[in-house]
Amino acid sequence: MRNALTPPAAPPADKHPGERGDSARPARAESNATDRTARAERDATDRTVRAEQDATDPTAHTERDVTDPTARAERDVSDRTARAERSIADRPACAESAAGEIAGGDNTAVTPRARPYVVLSCAMSLDGYLDDATDERLVLSNSEDLDRVDAMRAGCDAILVGANTIRRDNPRLLVRAQARREQRAENGLSPQPAKVAIFGHGDVDPESRFFTDGDTDKIVYCATKTAGRNRTRLGDRAEVVDGGEPVDLELALEDLAARGVGRLLVEGGSTVHTMFLTAGLVDELHLVVAPFFVGDGRAPRFVGDGQFPWHRGNRATMVDVRRMDDVVLLRYALSDRFEA
Ligand SMILES: NC(=O)c1ccc[n+]([C@@H]2O[C@H](COP(=O)([O-])OP(=O)(O)OC[C@H]3O[C@@H](n4cnc5c(N)ncnc54)[C@H](OP(=O)(O)O)[C@@H]3O)[C@@H](O)[C@H]2O)c1
Repeated sequence: MRNALTPPAAPPADKHPGERGDSARPARAESNATDRTARAERDATDRTVRAEQDATDPTAHTERDVTDPTARAERDVSDRTARAERSIADRPACAESAAGEIAGGDNTAVTPRARPYVVLSCAMSLDGYLDDATDERLVLSNSEDLDRVDAMRAGCDAILVGANTIRRDNPRLLVRAQARREQRAENGLSPQPAKVAIFGHGDVDPESRFFTDGDTDKIVYCATKTAGRNRTRLGDRAEVVDGGEPVDLELALEDLAARGVGRLLVEGGSTVHTMFLTAGLVDELHLVVAPFFVGDGRAPRFVGDGQFPWHRGNRATMVDVRRMDDVVLLRYALSDRFEA
């Protein structure tokens, strides 16, 4: 059984401070600062590449993108190519085999890494909150929308959430409608999609419904530092995969693709949304807006702060708006892989 994405490279002594938790906050801040520096350097490279493109094109990309979706698509492909090349350089050990696929023997043909088609789906309040700050689960959706989500789950190969969503909501993440489970079985699939979680420190109750409910594969991509401990803690309830420090989402997606996951549904929470969206790893966004406010800054928002590929100079493409009783579904295409 595979339980590590890569042979873990020996970490520099200062990059792996004490395990996450209140007592480890200064150490975690240090590692975050290192991450932020690396990200800032990469972003600077991206900006240089984009500036060079713009220098050869008298029309600034911000204006061009708004009026010309083709130009935007071309630039996105070019950005992804740059990212693919960068990821090869950044990951000397783990990406060697993938680098062969990406760059080809003579480094002429560069294509993005294999990953599932990713749909990110969530419900938020009118003021953009995913939840409130109480211990009670906040219901934002309605029955029509829950049925739509059930159909979406039935149409995917795996459902992914962050550790804190399991702690806070204890979701089952299963297809409810029997007819949909039967249809999956008729199609030669497991009646339930696989369940996937991302753990940092982990410490998620092994009796959570994520682990106990549903006879389906459960995979946890866990930060290197706590992978051993979480493997012991979860036993045979889930396969714990060492996902890097912190978990490398692109490698996790590549690993899921290798396991046969063609379509992945990301279902929260805020941290996971932010990471997927800022990394440009979402193909389609389904945002349901509930008709009330939360109005409490302590509650988690749809996303946290970050540099998102969609901003005032690069507007996302809206593909559908659907009213479902008292909520509205907004559907956006976020990549040129969008499947209508
Ligand atoms: N309205 C909706 O549709 C909806 C859907 C889902 C969730 N929610 C809400 O969202 C809230 C939870 O959001 P959240 O932001 O607190 O948590 P989250 O996104 O569910 O999980 C965050 C956790 O995932 C782990 N993680 C994420 N990326 C990682 C990486 N690259 N490497 C290592 N670990 C990583 C860390 O786990 P550790 O904690 O183990 O370090 C992190 O604390 C809840 O209130 C829930 O009700 C709402």
